[in-house]
Amino acid sequence: MNKQIEVIICSGTACYVMGGSELLLLEENLPESWRDRVTISGSPCLGFCRDRQHGKAPFVSVNGTTVPRATIPVILELIGELLEAHDAPQ
Ligand code: FES
Repeated sequence: MNKQIEVIICSGTACYVMGGSELLLLEENLPESWRDRVTISGSPCLGFCRDRQHGKAPFVSVNGTTVPRATIPVILELIGELLEAHDAPQ
């Protein structure tokens, strides 16, 4: 099955000190059944910290959607919603 969710975790300084370091544990917290459907990568800076309109760090991008004040539970919830929407009958 193709991966359907792309998660990019910002590991830049602003995000890292605001709690982003904890987000690096996201992969360990993914349910086993999601692991082949989610790609997790890192970025030195997603660029959202330069403009307050995006909210506050730490930032994560999930399929192109910016998630401010990201936490593992918030990201897991969003991934779950996206997978559920994808799997819903058309
Ligand atoms: S350091 Fe995270 S968006 Fe810039």
